[in-house]
Formats: sequence, structure tokens, C-alpha cells
Amino acid sequence: MQVDVRAQTAESFEADVLAVALPDNGAAMPAVAEPLDKLLEGRLGRLAAEEEVAQAIGRTAVLHPNGELGARRVVAVGLGPAAEIDADALRTAAARVSAAADRVGGALAWLLDDSLDLTPTEQARAIVDGLVLGAYDPGRWKQEVKELPFERLVLIGPDEAAEPARRALSVAEAANRARDLANTGANELTPEKLAARAQDIASEREHVTAETLGPEQIEQLGMGAFAGVAQGSHNPPRLIVMRYDPPQPTEAATVLGLVGKAVTFDTGGISIKPALYMEDMKGDMAGGAAVIEAMGAIAQLGLPVRVIAVVAATENMVGGGSYRPGDVLRAMNGKTIEITNTDAEGRLILADALHYARQEGATHLVDFATLTGAMEKALGDFYAGVFGNEDSWRDQVVAAGEASGDHAWAWPMHRRYRAYIESAFADMKNSSVRGQAIPAYAASFLEEFVGEGPWAHVDMAGTGFYTWPRNDYMGQKGGTGYGVRLIVELASRLTR
Ligand code: BES
Ligand code: MN
Ligand code: ZN
Repeated sequence: MQVDVRAQTAESFEADVLAVALPDNGAAMPAVAEPLDKLLEGRLGRLAAEEEVAQAIGRTAVLHPNGELGARRVVAVGLGPAAEIDADALRTAAARVSAAADRVGGALAWLLDDSLDLTPTEQARAIVDGLVLGAYDPGRWKQEVKELPFERLVLIGPDEAAEPARRALSVAEAANRARDLANTGANELTPEKLAARAQDIASEREHVTAETLGPEQIEQLGMGAFAGVAQGSHNPPRLIVMRYDPPQPTEAATVLGLVGKAVTFDTGGISIKPALYMEDMKGDMAGGAAVIEAMGAIAQLGLPVRVIAVVAATENMVGGGSYRPGDVLRAMNGKTIEITNTDAEGRLILADALHYARQEGATHLVDFATLTGAMEKALGDFYAGVFGNEDSWRDQVVAAGEASGDHAWAWPMHRRYRAYIESAFADMKNSSVRGQAIPAYAASFLEEFVGEGPWAHVDMAGTGFYTWPRNDYMGQKGGTGYGVRLIVELASRLTR
């Protein structure tokens, strides 16, 4: 899809489909739609007056103009009560417009509305998100795969919206690629295949390098926690390291360190998971996929910030070579871990990846992981939970998430939770049988490996891969691309 911006004139209404969003303003039509309504001989105004569309977010009505304007169809779409309209309302409205006119296709023009509480730039970004993320088809292994219906988006509004809209397009496309990775079965998406994707990005984009470490190097580095999880699989693990070094970073001393959990399939290991929904565990690499694809988007946008990405990719399998409960593993930073549950594998691979990222020069760490089922129980499919060792860094991560559409909510850390993982045999254990504060003690575990400096942990167990479709623009089951928008927003905020 190509994105352009035009000022409002009669000619700007020339498109295959013209979209007009209607806020519920007590039967009033938005002022910005008046010139259009004149051409349509009052039909839009009557639609607003009869309150058929505006009241519900994403409700649509399709008008067939009689040749009064260049568009073949006009789609009016509801935004719900005016006082409650947010970017998500517009994202969902855009997804519904796309679905309502997908058999028309071609060029879509969208009339931005300066009377909304969202700036034209915020509207433009949300519309792009809704169109691109909303039209994503997870059925890539069916005979017929749905494509994006529109080739072109013309935003009718101020010029300043053009650049942010184009950026949003790059980011949303990267998020859809992360969804593809999460939706790919573990027979196809092995750790090796994920590493190949990182290598592809490095060859496509300037100033990006990718390096892949295999099982021997992982052992040699002393990554006993990562190696322990990986030892039960026939598909060997990969430590994927990407570096983005732009020529003129705004802060040469800042290195954003992105760390991702990429368990390409999580059976639970010897502490095996129940069968119901186990297929969703192909998506246990969603954090790593977000990190890798976000790296590509950051480079594509040429953001002037140095970034290092470290993704630990492995399966967690059951076999004669698997690690066991009772095993003690030694992580790269020298700390020992008693395994009490082989299904708490994410924190083990992150332990070594976090330490490595810090050692390689990351000043500001943030990790993305589908880490605990309890986080999904707590916040569902909407918010990820964010922990951190410095409130200000954690809050920056949360703010970037909220601004980008990847919703995030701050969670507390306290040294008290460290007691939950005291072990009789080793420096710590990897799980606790008391079913309390599970996401929080997992964060305490990770904190043991982050070294000096700010670190945040995003537990995206509920938001990274949907077991059930969400009733908005993210309306599909499967991979969500969660984290890609957050990461690019965070990186761009580090440049100002
Ligand atoms: N990958 C899972 C967490 C998960 C569960 C993600 C459901 C998405 C949906 C993780 O490796 C795991 O199994 N965590 C355990 C930890 C426990 C053993 C301490 C969990 O949450 O049950
Ligand atoms: Mn697990
Ligand atoms: Zn897992």
C-alpha cells in the first residue's frame, strides 16, 4: 500500500472508496464532511440525523453515489460517543471500512476530522494501523490467502500527517511479518529458520548486522541456563545477535538493548503441559519475533539510535536428553539455578540473553517474552505487564506502548518476591509451587541477570498470541505482532 496526503477539494474525493468517520455527536454530522455532503445532496447528513451508524465503533453504511463525485463508494463508519473516541476506535473503524469495501479495492480516500480530540497525525497513524493490521490473514496455509484490499491510501488532511502515516505503514507491515513468524508451525519455523530471517533483514537494511551462535558457541560462552533448555531438542538452538549502528546517533553513549524470548515450541519439557491449546505454544517465540522485525523497521526508518538485539531461540522438548527437575544449571553470569519446573524455561534462556546483551554494551535493556500464563489470566489479551528495576525506564516503556497501540501496564517489583525463589541447593530456583505473584517472582528471577543499569521486562503472554479472536481491529486468532509498534516508538523517543 502507498500512502499520500491531499488537501480537501472536490477532486480529493476521487477514489474507489471514500471513507467518512462519524462521531456520535447527537445526530450532528462533522463539519469537515459538509462539502462532501453537498455533493451527495444531503445523504450523509440524513445518515447522521437518523443515528444509524455513529453510535457504534466500526458500524458501517455503504453509499453508492450517482456520479456526483469521483468515488464509486462512500463508506460511513461509526466512532461511538464523541467524548470516548481514542486511537483504538479509529483503528477498528479503519479495519471495518476495509472489510466493508474489500471487493471494491483500489484507492481509499479518508477524510480526516480536525474536530476530533486526536490530532491529524494521530488519526493518520491509527487509520494505517487499522487498515494494515486489520486486513491481516492468519490463514497463510490455506489454498487462498486474503491480500490487503487497497493499493493506495489518500488521507484528506494536512501535509504534516504524511510522514507519520508512511512510518506507521512500515511499522504495521513489520508487525504483520512478526505475526507470520508466530503463526508458522514449529516444524517450519525452527531456531535456525528464525536466525535466517534476522540474516535476511541484515542483508536488506543498511547499518544492520546479524550474527548467529550455535550450540557449541552457546556452551563455550558458559550459557548453561540456555543450553539446559535446548538440550532436549533435535533442532539446535540459536543465539541471534543483531546490531544497528546508524552513522549519526543522537546519543552515541546510548545503546538500546532488545532481548527476546523465542521458544519455537514449548511442550513444557518433562514438566509437560496439558494437551488443550498446546498448539498455541508455536507462538512462544512471539517476543523474539517482535524484536527481530522491530529491528528491521528501526533500520528502515533510519532512526538515529544505536540498538543491539539478542534473541534466544530454542525448542523446549521432551526426550532422553531433556533437562530435568532437580538439575542445577549455571548461567553465564556464574549464578546457579535449581530447576523445579522445566516449563519455566523462558526465564532461563532470557537469563543468559540479558547478561549477554549487557556485556555487549546495552545501556538500556528491555525484554519481550510470553513468560507466564498468569499474566494472560491477569490482563487478558489487551495489556502486557511491564516490570523494571528503575521506575522511570519502566514508565518510558509503558508510555511508548500506550502511544503506539501496544497497550502496556506497569507492575510492581519488590525484593520481597525474591524470597519465593530461594533454593536449598542453588542460588535460586526457577519456579515456586505457591501460586502467588507468578509474573512478579519471574521478574525477580530475571533481575538477577540484568547487571548494572536500567532494565524493563514486558510479559506479553496474553498479548503476543491470541487463543481467541479479539473483537476489534486485531480481530484474528494467532500471532499479533505485539511489541513491534512499542519498540519502534520507544526507539524513536530515544532520539529526541
Ligand atoms: N510459555 C509459557 C507461558 C505462556 C502460557 C504463554 C500461556 C502464553 C500462554 C511459559 O514458558 C510457561 O510455561 N510458564 C509457566 C511458568 C510456571 C511453571 C512457573 C506458567 O506460566 O505456567
Ligand atoms: Mn513453559
Ligand atoms: Zn514458554
